Amino acid sequence: MRIDVVTIFPEYLEPLNVSLVGKARARGQLLVEVHNLRDWTHDRHNTVDDTPYGGGPGMVMKPDPWGEALDRVEARGRADERTATADPVLVVPAPSGRPFTQALAVELSEKPWLVFAPARYEGIDRRVIDEYAGRWEVHEVSIGDYVLAGGEAAVLVITEAVARLLPGVLGNAESHRDDSFAPGAMADLLEGPVYTKPPEWRGRGIPEVLLSGHHGRIARWRRDEAFRRTAAHRPDLIERCDPAALDKHDRAV
Ligand code: ADE
Repeated sequence: MRIDVVTIFPEYLEPLNVSLVGKARARGQLLVEVHNLRDWTHDRHNTVDDTPYGGGPGMVMKPDPWGEALDRVEARGRADERTATADPVLVVPAPSGRPFTQALAVELSEKPWLVFAPARYEGIDRRVIDEYAGRWEVHEVSIGDYVLAGGEAAVLVITEAVARLLPGVLGNAESHRDDSFAPGAMADLLEGPVYTKPPEWRGRGIPEVLLSGHHGRIARWRRDEAFRRTAAHRPDLIERCDPAALDKHDRAV
């Protein structure tokens, strides 16, 4: 997968050099290029924003640098044999976007080329998104019901959620099967508690069933704990939960 990020804070994306995403890049499973939006400004102050039409507080990102930057990113990707015939998918993080979910992470992980356009200020001039929506697939995505100072933190979140789904990036392909929110896994319940050695820590033991070696009982306990945690933290998910999926899970163990 190729990922391009256009931002006025390239240094904000430095965490993409470490941990899972950094390793995927080092192994060649993921190519990431971060571009400075100001490289496509032509005035002395490298201006990327202006006052909003219609008035109101804050500033709006100007369309010209974004248009030049995205056209250049497209040309660079097309010159790379790995994405020469691929279509870029534009991801615009915004609190007004559609919620980022594991299902969307899976959908994006199947695309060969993502281009992120994180905004600062009050957002990007709408014509930019409308222009590229006519040429590319475009997703406006929110990572939660709160307002960040800009979209860069959302780019980090989305990239990590997507990168761990790429083939070969996680050591054990099974390890995201039971993820909280994995479509179809554990009937869409949150993951329950986990334990490791030592068997006693500060007077606290671990649930006896986990020592039993009885796979069926352990799976059933995990499912009950997942259900309990989901009911406590996300009752909305219980309402959506399909009892048939729980039964299927039980039959599979
Ligand atoms: N930019 C600012 N707030 C955001 C949010 N909640 N999600 C995605 N991008 C954002």
